[in-house]
Amino acid sequence: MNRRIEVPAARVPAIGERCLVEGEGKSVALFNVDGRLLAVDDSCPHQGASLCAGQLQGAVIQCRSHGLRFDLASGYLLNSTALKVASYPVEVEGDRVFIVLARQEVVA
Ligand code: FES
Repeated sequence: MNRRIEVPAARVPAIGERCLVEGEGKSVALFNVDGRLLAVDDSCPHQGASLCAGQLQGAVIQCRSHGLRFDLASGYLLNSTALKVASYPVEVEGDRVFIVLARQEVVA
């Protein structure tokens, strides 16, 4: 089984919005960028500030603490691979939304 967190339907963010989702011992920031759901750890890899509270510009989140900017799709610091926040795939099944923390490989 994949390790997933289900996002309660009422909390799924509208376009341009975000929400904090907790489960499986993690806090994940979920953003809706032009209809794309993008999920990253809610902990800046610099000094741990909340990225959910950051400033969203397109698919880039700017940490409020020291201003570092991260690409929400890849998790990488903008124009660099020096720092990366963990990013997670988001699965939509009908009207249910899941953040995939880890995939279980199926060995045939
Ligand atoms: S804690 Fe995010 S930029 Fe420093």
